[in-house]
Amino acid sequence: MAVKTLADLLAEGPEGVAGRGVLVRSDLNVPLDDEGKITDTGRIIASVPTLKALAEAGAKVVVTAHLGRPKGTPDPQLSLAPVAAALGEKLGRHVQLAGDVVGTDALARAEGLTDGDVLLLENIRFDPRETSKDDAERLALARELAALVEGADGSPGAFVSDGFGVVHRKQASVYDVATLLPHYAGTLVDAEVKVLEQLTSSTERPYAVVLGGSKVSDKLAVIENLATKADSLIIGGGMCFTFLAAQGVPVGTSLCQVEMIDTCKRLLDTYADVIHLPVDIVVADKFAADAEPETVASDRIPEGKMGLDIGPESVKRFTALLSNAKTVFWNGPMGVFEFPAFSAGTKGVAEAIIGATEKGAFSVVGGGDSAAAVRQLGLAEDGFSHISTGGGASLEYLEGKTLPGIEVLES
Ligand code: 3PG
Repeated sequence: MAVKTLADLLAEGPEGVAGRGVLVRSDLNVPLDDEGKITDTGRIIASVPTLKALAEAGAKVVVTAHLGRPKGTPDPQLSLAPVAAALGEKLGRHVQLAGDVVGTDALARAEGLTDGDVLLLENIRFDPRETSKDDAERLALARELAALVEGADGSPGAFVSDGFGVVHRKQASVYDVATLLPHYAGTLVDAEVKVLEQLTSSTERPYAVVLGGSKVSDKLAVIENLATKADSLIIGGGMCFTFLAAQGVPVGTSLCQVEMIDTCKRLLDTYADVIHLPVDIVVADKFAADAEPETVASDRIPEGKMGLDIGPESVKRFTALLSNAKTVFWNGPMGVFEFPAFSAGTKGVAEAIIGATEKGAFSVVGGGDSAAAVRQLGLAEDGFSHISTGGGASLEYLEGKTLPGIEVLES
């Protein structure tokens, strides 16, 4: 990647960092439970190295991040308050939270920062300009962000882009701010891009891709792209039912995108040798943790029942496909892994990927849900070559799309 990195910024010596305002875009978009408690701190932990290095080098660190998708207006449920507390804990230093995004509180706090201090701005998506389609609106917000890290003598601060999970978004804090400030890729963005480059440029075969998750429409572009590159494309999760419906079998009350059935038929016809679907399914009569599980053949889903996981025979077959793979990319759980009775499919496939990795395969887990599944199912994170923090971002990279937040760092 022909971009300057955090290491380049730190190598600029004391003038580069110490006492200088540095704006960092992190991806701290973590899952919360009904009580607003963080259920997976993976993205917070992944953001620590860049922030720690900057704070230790004496920068005045201003962090900007989003949580969820507020509609451009403050929403107390999506305040970054719990994130600020968790980040402070992981970082081992106090993280102040501004009461606003770029308002009077953020300005006053930014002015009061001393070397090594860390200030987190309130959810950047509380400001409608962050996600605006109007370039001028986004640029206006980016200017206000840049002003927070400007030196007292008017010298510019620096921008470190470290939120890999949002680099596919052309948003003020991801894209526009890099057009205003000297910019650098943080350690996370740098590492993630290197892994994806390796995955796409020096792919050792056999190459197995495992895709899950609920909607075919979300994965269509990546299926089209990877079906021509992978030796096997294993499909599970909610989206397998639209493929099963495309084969003309009954899917009961399982998730099914009727409008995508024809597309799935075409994909199955074109890539018959590559695409592998589950042969058995764990069904239940309701979507609930206490629902009674029953395993049926995938072409025998009873009326009124919904598929919530792939079955043990599918795990066996997918394991066989994965066992000799040299490269594996996995995105999306195989079932509702949050419910223990329906987690065996995801766990089984994850274990098969760990097995392939132990035999030397290069394995990448892409996506918030699959990464969270690895942690929640108690699997060893170091069993995989890389666990990405970016779901949409890694998929868009693999689709061959240009990622605005990366492209802007190259300029
Ligand atoms: C993610 O959760 O994938 C990233 O944080 C991006 O969030 P978004 O899809 O709401 O832009």
